[in-house]
Amino acid sequence: MSRDVSFNFKDKGVVVTGAAQGIGWQIARDFLAAGARVALWDKSEEGLRQAMSELKDLSKSAQSFIVDITDRESCAKAAAALTFPVHVLINNAGITRDKTFAKMEASDYEAVLDTNLLGAFHVTKSLMPYFVTDTAGKRIINISSVVGRYGNFGQTNYAAAKAGIIGFTQSLAKEWGRKGFTANAVAPGYIQTSMVEQIPAEIREKMAHATPLGRLGATTDIANMCLYLASDAASYINGAVLAVDGGLVI
Ligand SMILES: NC(=O)c1ccc[n+]([C@@H]2O[C@H](COP(=O)([O-])OP(=O)(O)OC[C@H]3O[C@@H](n4cnc5c(N)ncnc54)[C@H](O)[C@@H]3O)[C@@H](O)[C@H]2O)c1
Repeated sequence: MSRDVSFNFKDKGVVVTGAAQGIGWQIARDFLAAGARVALWDKSEEGLRQAMSELKDLSKSAQSFIVDITDRESCAKAAAALTFPVHVLINNAGITRDKTFAKMEASDYEAVLDTNLLGAFHVTKSLMPYFVTDTAGKRIINISSVVGRYGNFGQTNYAAAKAGIIGFTQSLAKEWGRKGFTANAVAPGYIQTSMVEQIPAEIREKMAHATPLGRLGATTDIANMCLYLASDAASYINGAVLAVDGGLVI
């Protein structure tokens, strides 16, 4: 599908976590295409290598760094290695460990909270000294999920973490509004990435059918929202949860 989305982020610094593949890679790619300098953070060394090669010429303005967002030291090291000041942070890295509640172990719950919720804390905290000192235009964009607002069968851990991300976002929006930041959450529906490809094909088919637009989302659908939220056009949007789900929950 051809798309004409033009934003200009020339000379802006962007950090994207979980950028080796899927939604994070697409966000990184699209900010690069819009002129930004982008740090791709991910725990997968091989994934980052592949991600950088797929960026082709755009990789000249990209910097990749192996980071485990569950580890504060790892985040601090990556932040100190940045070659540019930060305007935009996209907390995107996430995992699933789906099980019904009866089968879910505390370790499944902890792993998902550690990455999806505490990880965003470590990353945001580590980057605090590296944001530009501008009095406006700074952006925190956190990738939540439709599941964080409405729950989901087999995802008590994931839903709790994604709901937590919404509370985190709204609180930051209140604390940092006067410091020149907006903080917003994006709540994707079902997006075609390897996370969703783990779900059996017939269930994916049902998900597409349950969506009023009749299809799963594309990674570009989420990247478009991030570009918009990071742009000056969204300067008065703060503490919002933007659904990008094809109307799944209406
Ligand atoms: N795909 C969907 O349908 C969907 C729907 C709603 C929300 N989301 C959210 O969007 C985000 C991206 O999802 P995706 O589908 O692209 O997932 P994905 O599994 O394709 O990619 C996730 C990336 O995060 C990285 N990652 C995981 N744990 C990490 C850690 N501890 N430190 C650093 N990197 C880590 C992985 O290596 C991977 O590259 C996640 O937060 C996910 O919960 C996805």
